[in-house]
Amino acid sequence: PFEVELARTGATVTVQPGQSILEAVRAEQPDVLYSCEEGFCGTCETKVLEGVPIHKDTILSDKEREKNTTMMICVGGCASARLVLDL
Ligand code: FES
Repeated sequence: PFEVELARTGATVTVQPGQSILEAVRAEQPDVLYSCEEGFCGTCETKVLEGVPIHKDTILSDKEREKNTTMMICVGGCASARLVLDL
């Protein structure tokens, strides 16, 4: 499990194994935008303010992945203990 802080509200959610970041965020913030839930539409793209995301989408370029400033939260994971997202 890892923690995700939603920077705009200060809320923190825990992402359990097998759960997507999107699912955990949705429990706290039901109006979060998403569509495909498979990492190809780009609707759930979210800015990463802190932490190291794991990218599993099929949209971002290698350069964008390296920068770690944005991610698709429907499929991505976390390589650090905590992510802070611009939500
Ligand atoms: Fe489509 Fe995340 S909902 S990329």
